[in-house]
Amino acid sequence: MRRIPTAVLISGRGSNMAALLEAAADPSFPADIRLVLSNRPGASGLERAAGFGVATQVIDHRSFSDRAGFDAALDQALTTAGIQLVALAGFMRLLTPDFTRRWTGRMINIHPSLLPAFKGVHVHQQALAAGVRLSGCTVHFVSPEMDSGAIIGQAAVPVHPDDNADRLAARILAMEHLLYPAALALVANGQARLIDGRTAFAAGAWRAVTLTADLDG
Ligand code: GAR
Repeated sequence: MRRIPTAVLISGRGSNMAALLEAAADPSFPADIRLVLSNRPGASGLERAAGFGVATQVIDHRSFSDRAGFDAALDQALTTAGIQLVALAGFMRLLTPDFTRRWTGRMINIHPSLLPAFKGVHVHQQALAAGVRLSGCTVHFVSPEMDSGAIIGQAAVPVHPDDNADRLAARILAMEHLLYPAALALVANGQARLIDGRTAFAAGAWRAVTLTADLDG
């Protein structure tokens, strides 16, 4: 089996990155995670990645005067490493339309809400303020518009009446760690593809990325 050379991009603690690396430790996992790249030198996820024996690299966005310069350096690092698939995992930088277009259909992201609800930041506060009974997380192909690309998979969790943002975030994060490896696997093995702006699935493959948590979970 051909494993697709993959990079994970982070900005912080990297718990989703760790979930992806754990899944990819299985030789039958279709993505070969060769590189973890951070835009922040102090990201704690970098140490975690090194613990998995994966190559790490920092491209500090503060060394660039504009987004285009940073994105060009990022693109070069990915190309040099032979990367074919990119997974954003808590990567908190907006990418330029040019960069996202170059990686169309080959770059995915995880966001901690049921998109298209609650884009951007302070996502859990947005969900609590709206009074929704369900929230969750979404893995999607990255498009130039933030948090708007074709949806690959979602996991739903209940919102409890006494939730605060931290409790809701933790309940969603546990599902992120299940959903993201499943979604990356489908993209890497070609069972989920971006076609005409929508995700096309091989027969039955959507089931692996359509998850619900227990009401008490
Ligand atoms: C995750 O909850 C991820 O969904 C979110 O940041 C967190 C990163 O945690 N991403 C976004 O909000 C992107 N818009 P992690 O570093 O432990 O994976």
